[in-house]
Amino acid sequence: MEPVNQVLAQIPPSFIRALNDRKRPTSLNLGLGEPSIHPDADLVDDGFKRFRSGPQGYTRNAGLAELREHIAAFRSDVEAAPERILVTQGSQEAVFISLAALLNPGDEVVVLDPAFNIYGPIARLFGARVVSVPMDPADGFALRADAVRAALTPATRMLCVVSPGNPTGRALSEPVARELAAIAEDNGVTLLVDEVYRELHHGDTPAPSPARWTRRAITVGSMSKNCAMTGLRVGWTILPEYAYSPALKLHQLCATCAASMSQYIALAAFERRALFRHRDIYRRRLDVTLAAVKEHLGLTPPRPEGAFYVMLDLRKLPVTTKELSETLLDEEDVVMVPGEAFGPSAHGFFRISFAQDDAVVVEGIRRLGGLLRRKGWAVA
Ligand SMILES: Cc1ncc(COP(=O)(O)O)c(C=O)c1O
Repeated sequence: MEPVNQVLAQIPPSFIRALNDRKRPTSLNLGLGEPSIHPDADLVDDGFKRFRSGPQGYTRNAGLAELREHIAAFRSDVEAAPERILVTQGSQEAVFISLAALLNPGDEVVVLDPAFNIYGPIARLFGARVVSVPMDPADGFALRADAVRAALTPATRMLCVVSPGNPTGRALSEPVARELAAIAEDNGVTLLVDEVYRELHHGDTPAPSPARWTRRAITVGSMSKNCAMTGLRVGWTILPEYAYSPALKLHQLCATCAASMSQYIALAAFERRALFRHRDIYRRRLDVTLAAVKEHLGLTPPRPEGAFYVMLDLRKLPVTTKELSETLLDEEDVVMVPGEAFGPSAHGFFRISFAQDDAVVVEGIRRLGGLLRRKGWAVA
């Protein structure tokens, strides 16, 4: 056997990526959580101008001071001093270094099921054991604090939550957010709160962050979804004092700093108060998506509280949703992701991403309806 990292070798490749790699140029993509809109031109132009006239090399490892000041002011709901913020290459790096900074072999990390599937694999790379908290489809995949408490052991070191959630779109209520903060405080656990969809909320205000009520929280954010800047790779992590220096050391080791030009564009977005600009697009598109799901599939899924995903309950299907996703791509040229890609609790569910244009989303759902009828697979 070649001498590769054995833990890494056992981590299966991402099913979502594998499905996306199989798609054709003509495929309708309701799979990836990637906005079809471009980043706003005024932000890109402004950032580019600064890049051309300003220093173009590495920035400080932690990121541009002005950008960190803006992030701290923007997140005045949590304790977020600029000296506690690291600007990273997307939130994915933020999650990676935040976990790697704290974990030791034998630690336990509690993750949600279903959830975006990065926390567990990263934790395992650093020798931690992963404990999943299943969320019940009967509750619409709402997170229950008592289930989290039940998963704790003396070895628990970190708890990773996502709000609003991917794939569920569920956001934490204030009582649950407060409970999670209390769990972190009472048990000396660090709570990693992934809030990359925070600004894309479908209610009146962003979901309350548990980081408001504990100093043991790591808050992760990103420019990728809210400002459609996935390709610019700018995210951040707001860390407690005890985690900051180790995370900075890792960030230096793996990235040095986020790309300076991308940081200038992110800075322009904060200065122009643009982080909520796209929210109404998705709020409206959610209505379009739910209407199409009702018309073409006869289903009325619960309304998500944020992000750009809807979960379809297809548990009546005679085939698995993994098989359905493959057939849908082969026969209808549509990419959608089976729920089980996010954890066993979402078996039988299908995630629709409505990050693409209305016409693509509606046509994708129409084709799914056509496929189900042709096969005689009833889901409603
Ligand atoms: C919950 C969640 N966290 C983090 C990310 C990574 O985003 P980025 O690295 O582009 O900021 C994603 C992307 O889909 C996500 O869904």
